[in-house]
Parts: sequence; C-alpha cells; structure tokens
Amino acid sequence: MADEQLFLRSKVIVEPLVDRFFAWPYTIAPVQAAMNLAFLQVPLLESYLQSPQVHVAASNNPELRGGYFINIPEERADEVRDLLAAIKRDRADMLKFAEAVAAGQELLRANATGFDLTPLYPKLPPELGGLVELAYDTDNQAQMRFMEPVVYKSNVYQEARQSVQLSFETGIERPFILSTPRLPSPDVLELDIPFRHPGLAELFKARVKGTTLAHLREALGLDDAQAARLAGMLTDRPSGAADRHIEGGGRIRYFGHACLVLQTPEAAIVTDPFISADSTAGDRYTLDDLPDWIDLVLITHGHQDHIVLETLLQLRGRLGAIVVPRSSRGNLADPSMALMLKNQGFNVIEVDDFDEVEFPGGRVTATPFLGEHCDLDIRAKSTYWAELAGKKVFIGADSSGIDPSLYRYIKGHLGTADIAFLGMECDGAPLTWLYQALLTIPITKKMSNSRKLSGSNAEQAAAIMTELGATEAYVYAMGEEDWLGHVMATTYTEDTYQIKQIEEFLTWCKDRGITAGHLFKQQEWRW
Ligand SMILES: [Fe+2]
Ligand SMILES: [Fe+2]
Repeated sequence: MADEQLFLRSKVIVEPLVDRFFAWPYTIAPVQAAMNLAFLQVPLLESYLQSPQVHVAASNNPELRGGYFINIPEERADEVRDLLAAIKRDRADMLKFAEAVAAGQELLRANATGFDLTPLYPKLPPELGGLVELAYDTDNQAQMRFMEPVVYKSNVYQEARQSVQLSFETGIERPFILSTPRLPSPDVLELDIPFRHPGLAELFKARVKGTTLAHLREALGLDDAQAARLAGMLTDRPSGAADRHIEGGGRIRYFGHACLVLQTPEAAIVTDPFISADSTAGDRYTLDDLPDWIDLVLITHGHQDHIVLETLLQLRGRLGAIVVPRSSRGNLADPSMALMLKNQGFNVIEVDDFDEVEFPGGRVTATPFLGEHCDLDIRAKSTYWAELAGKKVFIGADSSGIDPSLYRYIKGHLGTADIAFLGMECDGAPLTWLYQALLTIPITKKMSNSRKLSGSNAEQAAAIMTELGATEAYVYAMGEEDWLGHVMATTYTEDTYQIKQIEEFLTWCKDRGITAGHLFKQQEWRW
C-alpha cells in the first residue's frame, strides 16, 4: 500500500494564507503587506469584534458584495480575537514599520521643500533605517524609495505568516478573499509551511505523475493525522483529460476570466492562470485540461484576479518560468512581481516593454499596458504578443484604450495581430477599494470615485482594434464565471454598463467584418 502509485484528486484546492488572510501580491510583498496589515486587516478585525453580527449581515447582503466585511459567525468571535492578538504580538515589527512609513511620508511632506534631503535621514523613524532612500523627482516632489530586495531580508518580511489550507472544491462560493480570514475547519488540511516549501511542488506534481503517500508525507513533513487526511486526497487514477495535448497545428483554449492556454505539439503557454478544480461542473476547462508541462506562464499585472497564488502554486512543479512585468523599483504602490514570486520558489523572467522570450517553436514579446491602476504610478503591468504555429496573438488583459495611439506602436513593432483578446471592465472599483491601506493622506470619496480600476469601454476597444488592425477580437477578463466569486465578487446583469458596452463593441466589429465574441466559461480555437 505504501508503494502504490497515487495521484492528487482532481477536486483538491489550495488556499495560500498569510496570517490567515488570503495571500496576494499586496499581502505577500513586505512593504505593501505591512501597510495592509496595519491599516486594513487589523482595523477590519477590530471592527468585526465590535459587532460581528453587522459584519455577517453585510457579508450576506448582495448590495454590499465585495465589501470589507468578515463573514465569520459570531460563535467564533473568540478565534478572531485570538488571531488579532497573535498579529499584534507576532507581527509587531511589521506594524511598527507601517507606522514608520506613514511617519516618513509626513516628514517629507513637511520638510522636503526642494533643499538638501541629507538632514532628514536622522529624523526618519528607526524602523526605516537602511530600507529607504529619499529622492526628489524633477518637480521637487520628494518620495521614499524602498530598497525592496533588502526589505525581503529584514524582519518586515515574515515567512512564518504563511500557511496553506488544502481542501476539496465544493462548488459553494468561498468567502471573499480580501476580507474574510480563513479559520481552521474540520474539512481542511492545514499545513503550517511557507509557499516556497518544496513539498508543495511534489504534491501538485502528483496531478500528472504518480507518487507514493510515503514520499509525500516525507516531502511535506506530515504527522499521522495529517497523512491520513492527505491519503483521502489521493487516488490511484490520474485525472488528466485525454485531449490535454495536441498532435499538430495550434490551439487556444479560454479557461475563464483572463486565463488562456496557447498550445502547439511542442509547447504550452498559460496567461494569468486562474483555473477551476471542479471537473464535475462540465461547463469549463479545469486543472485536468492543462498540458503536463507548461513552458511559460504570462502574468499581465498584479491585481488579485491575474496573479492568483492558489493556481500558481498548483503549477510550480511542472512549469518552465513565469514571465512578469518589471516594476518601478521601490515605489510604495508598485511591488516587484519578480521578487515576490522568486521568494515563493518560482523561476521568474522579468520583462520590460518589447523584451522577447523564446519558447520551443515560438516567441512571446512583452507589450505596453496602459492605465487601469487608478492613476497610481504602477509599472508592473504588461500586455503580451505571442507568436506560435503561424499565428500572432495579442493578449490585452485589462489595458485601457485611454490613448489608442499606443497600440499603433505595437503594430509598428510587431505587425498585424491575427487575434486580439481585450478586457472591457470599463467601470471598475474606485481607488480606495484596492489601495486604501497604501494612501498615507486621506482622500475624498469624490476623488477616489474619479479614479477607477477601469479598462476599455466600447469606444476605446474599437480604437484599439483600429490601431492593431486585427481580424478577430474577443472580450475576456470580465470576471463573469460564477466559480470566480471569491475573488471577483462581481454582479452583472444584462443591463450593466459593462455588458452594454461589450454589445456595442461587438456590433462595431460586426459592421466592419471583424470576427468577434464575448467569452464566457469556455471556448476553443483550433488551426
Ligand atoms: Fe486589473
Ligand atoms: Fe482584471
């Protein structure tokens, strides 16, 4: 029995956690994680403890979907109280660092008036010592630049915050990831190990390659009870779909949201992986449909629906490299995706606009990404151009058509795309929904609402198509699939502005003989 070749069951999911909150770039990268812990998560836990019933009621109110409410029943409030106490005790260094960042910004606002910044260094809070440089831009606006690689080596980056929960996909929507911490549950196998733990790669490789319970037990360092729990997640039969590889030509499959799998017989590329584990649903491609080996994962930007650790961790043992856009290096709003993923054990290739990455039989070129980040100076964002099996594919993600002439340069550099995938979330959430904890001075609601996480509307998408000259266009990355609810928290109806804009764009395409579609759940292109 101990030597039996076993595979991971199809429906196993992993929730990567930091201090029990769902892990995403802004809660893993240390500077931003400290800010979110101090100015969002701790106040949220305190607010819950004041009146748990209000949080539970708000969590179940469809009008407040995606709001910052903790969906934990009042009977478990003591566990939330313990979590808050543990954070205040064990993460004191992070909390002090966040306070120091706010104080440092205040110091600059009051004292950096265009004169020498040297006298300000001794006045900075000691927690920032060695971790920041002060600098003016050419308009005499002073900023702190965080030495991000150094911060990862400081006590602001605490890997002990990390753990994972393994469980089965139930089809029941999980709580919204940005607000509700995950408490222990009898249905869940908790592993108190960091995301980079090699045992996790071994575990998820067992989706495609048989292994033994003894090997996994050793690799993950499990006790008897944990090993028994894990045994229930293994099976003697692999669940990979028969048609997960192709024999000739090229294929693109839409797996939902912004996830596309581009394949030839020699290679596979996955964009913004966010993949369902529910192979019984029958209306989607799942982890079972992925090829055994993935050459490249392409990440377009750092939003929580595009860089999804719960899927990336499942791929780590069967993946060549993750291609990520280069950040601005040290800007408070713009954590390095490369550093964040390298520290989680991934092989990373960092690209700037027009950098090229080869893969067997093809090539990916990073292309510019415009807007969609509330006018914050966030540069870790890229669209991509993939060439494979004779086709040129533009992967536009949430990039906006705010200045369509940009896309003329893409065409000038790379030629005419055959297929363009465009995001059209044209009425996104306001600035404070995602970035509140990073803002060190208050912002008015009016100001925040004027700066939304918005991609292209119909007019902008049409302008992109005019510049690119592509002959096929597909709208994707709208977060409409119901299995994404815990991350997307969207509520669309046929009257929603975004859906109307998509219809308008599709009509525009039809009038010009451009093949176009609005992707939902799954689709396949074969040539
Ligand atoms: Fe986005
Ligand atoms: Fe998005």
